[in-house]
Amino acid sequence: MKEKTEMLVKECSDYLNQCNDLNDLNRIKIKYLGKNGLITALLKNLRDLPSEQRPFAGKTVNDAREKIQTLLDEKEGELKKSESGILLEKEWIDVTLPGKNTTRGSLHPITKIIDEIISVFSGLGFEYKEGPEIETDYYCFQALNIPKDHPARDMQDTFYINENIVLRSHTSPVQVRNMEISKPPIRIVNPGRVYRADDDATHSPMFHQIEGLCIDEHISLGDLKGVLEEFAKNIFSKDTKIRFRPSYFPFTEPSVEVDVSCSICKGKGCKICKGTGWIEILGAGIVNPAVLEQSNIDSKKYSGFAFGCGIERIAMIKYGIDDMRILFDNDLRFLRQYK
Ligand code: DAH
Repeated sequence: MKEKTEMLVKECSDYLNQCNDLNDLNRIKIKYLGKNGLITALLKNLRDLPSEQRPFAGKTVNDAREKIQTLLDEKEGELKKSESGILLEKEWIDVTLPGKNTTRGSLHPITKIIDEIISVFSGLGFEYKEGPEIETDYYCFQALNIPKDHPARDMQDTFYINENIVLRSHTSPVQVRNMEISKPPIRIVNPGRVYRADDDATHSPMFHQIEGLCIDEHISLGDLKGVLEEFAKNIFSKDTKIRFRPSYFPFTEPSVEVDVSCSICKGKGCKICKGTGWIEILGAGIVNPAVLEQSNIDSKKYSGFAFGCGIERIAMIKYGIDDMRILFDNDLRFLRQYK
């Protein structure tokens, strides 16, 4: 028995010398000490021995089992130590290395200008509104005092989807939608995309407008002028002046075109303002009483002003851009300048 157990211990120790991972170690453990292992079998066989031999044989097998257990434990300790060493080696990081730069996106100049304008008007008590881009002929024209076949429709090259549905050619229909659902006082601004069949350096088939509407008692052209002056000073520069020129829109009476003093040449005359010192930025006026009545607002009690402004035009003036199309090319070299 002694020889046999010594042999098993020796054999196990040889295996362990060659073993270099924990899975292997487990297999060796099972081979000797598992339920059907070699040492376990010897222990089971003890009961077949004559009783006077049993104590000695029992001690021999138990000693062998302890030796093997010790060998296994030692090896396990050794392997665990070296595995964590390998892990440390593999997962080593140099925390002093500089980080990887991820490039950040930024807002498009058109979005930035819209945000700036909204912020000026919200400071003046105007609420932000939106409206649909696919609009009915009624909201886009009829409710704004432009009946079907009226020559004023030629002022805008509208995309018709069918006889009664259009891609909105201006943001003015949002005025009507809001007058229908709210009572004065009304103060709203609504920016958004508009569409016209037009395409050259200063026109794009899709562009942006922002519309403003203010309705209350005793609203006059003076109020319009004060509000637009505040707008121009905030968007261009503190010394910007504005001027009104008479104009015509079916939905306002009187109607005006609004110019700002050229911020490039400070009014002296340059290429941007075509030598005049002034740049046209928007159309506006006193809301036509017919438009108020159409939306059930009492035009004897209330009056209002409205304006509509092209955002691309503001961007071109503010940033000195001479071709509108560059705003829609999405060339990153251009866009990054406005970060
Ligand atoms: N809707 C006009 C256009 O697109 C601009 C405009 C002019 C809007 C006068 C207004 C306004 O609200 O009162 O040409």
